[in-house]
Amino acid sequence: MAVVEEPGKPRNWQERLAIIRDRLYDRLFHNYVWRSIFRSGYPNTPRNQMLVVATNVFLHLHPTRIHRTHVKITHTYCLGGLSFFMFIVLTVTGVLLMFYYVPDVNRAWQDIAALETNVRFGLLMRNLHRWAAHGMVILVFLHMMRVFYTGAYKPPREFNWVVGVVLLFLTLLMSFTGYLLPWDQLAVWAITVGHGIGGSTPYLGDEVQQVLFGGFEIGQGALIRFYTLHVLGLPLLAAIMMAVHFWRIRRDGGLARPL
Ligand code: HEM
Repeated sequence: MAVVEEPGKPRNWQERLAIIRDRLYDRLFHNYVWRSIFRSGYPNTPRNQMLVVATNVFLHLHPTRIHRTHVKITHTYCLGGLSFFMFIVLTVTGVLLMFYYVPDVNRAWQDIAALETNVRFGLLMRNLHRWAAHGMVILVFLHMMRVFYTGAYKPPREFNWVVGVVLLFLTLLMSFTGYLLPWDQLAVWAITVGHGIGGSTPYLGDEVQQVLFGGFEIGQGALIRFYTLHVLGLPLLAAIMMAVHFWRIRRDGGLARPL
């Protein structure tokens, strides 16, 4: 006797599984909430691929199309991207360090010593922060050299070069202000040199010392100023300038082509 198959009814367990999979996919991706966040379809066509990148807040930083020469890693060595990565590492480890460090001249050094010995992963956290800071200074310099040697500072990218110079100074200032925070001999003598340099500003020496160091001697005034600049003022300014820097790369027509 011939078996009459009902249309749409699964014939075996593989078909049953496929139906469950399709239903699950439908429930997950074809609903109002998903569509409100991701407006483009699955990236299976060039148009959908572009839409996925252009409509996503994180991915939209990347251009949807790039010149073929930019795929080559040796064009940029991703030195700007690595500088930015160091900044992210510094932000994350810096926030963790803030849980254990108090900017008080009577306890700053003890806090650092305790961090290294009493806090689980404290030494790792501190060293990650230190090495990332050294790394960022080196990488920013190398990035600047790469930009120079590929002639990418020339019009229409001259303004982004200026933004870059501001970023270089901010990087160096973040490094210098962080150096003081452990309040050890190295830090206090380094800041004493900085204090002297500030004091020799033509005509405004005393005022510069008052504003930057909180007095004519290195003490609590200097520590709290450097701490505030280090954890808030400078990183905030750097983040804003980086946003301008990245935005300008796109506005200037993407990365410069090889010379
Ligand atoms: C915190 C510091 C900095 C960060 C995070 C940063 C990040 C970036 C990134 C991600 C790019 C894309 C290409 C690449 O990865 O190399 C770039 C390009 C560029 N950067 Fe920077 N940068 C910084 C500092 C500087 C400095 C110090 C200069 C120069 C004084 C500079 C000038 C430029 C220019 C002109 C471009 C466009 C290059 C091209 O079109 O090929 N940047 N930057």
